[in-house]
Amino acid sequence: MSEVANAATLRRARIGDAAELARLSAQLGYPQDADAFARRLRRLLISADHPVIVATDDDIRLLGFVAIERRLMLETGDRVEIVGLVVDDAARRRGIGQGLVRAAEDWARAIGIGEVLVRSNVVRAESHPFYEGAGFVRIKSQHVYLKQTSHGGREE
Ligand SMILES: CC(C)(COP(=O)(O)OP(=O)(O)OC[C@H]1O[C@@H](n2cnc3c(N)ncnc32)[C@H](O)[C@@H]1OP(=O)(O)O)[C@@H](O)C(=O)NCCC(=O)NCCS
Repeated sequence: MSEVANAATLRRARIGDAAELARLSAQLGYPQDADAFARRLRRLLISADHPVIVATDDDIRLLGFVAIERRLMLETGDRVEIVGLVVDDAARRRGIGQGLVRAAEDWARAIGIGEVLVRSNVVRAESHPFYEGAGFVRIKSQHVYLKQTSHGGREE
């Protein structure tokens, strides 16, 4: 556990956080089926390569979270990627996002990885000055393609 701005505490997520994490994810525009969300969270929590770190000031209600992934790329080797980051609408501009990103960087350092990458949707305007202020450098823009396979849905 570590302290960030305004008495918020950072800790690893646990399964009891599922509903709060789903509430925050809904703020990102991903409406959540609570059961499916809890099933996915359970899988992440047993993976050494997919930490989820939350910010809270009362240990129950969450102020934000960052989901991180250790990914092995043939071309570049191991990398840490921020795959989800959201701070509650009501808790923004208190330094919580910055604290969560620092926690991701600390985890990368702890596992011996020197690079943290994040992909930020062009429509998330607030995230661009945020990441640049946190020392990230924009290295490319890209198109993202999706195709449904005959399986008919996404893996859960
Ligand atoms: C981006 C986000 C995580 C920032 O969280 P936050 O806790 O409000 O950020 P912080 O308080 O740590 O901000 C640190 C600095 O980033 C910059 N920043 C943050 N939000 C900003 C905004 N809306 N506009 C301009 N700059 C901003 C500022 O420089 C800020 O420092 P300051 O408040 O002293 O000026 C939050 O706005 C959010 O959850 N947005 C919606 C989801 C999202 O875009 N996630 C990223 C997906 S890749």
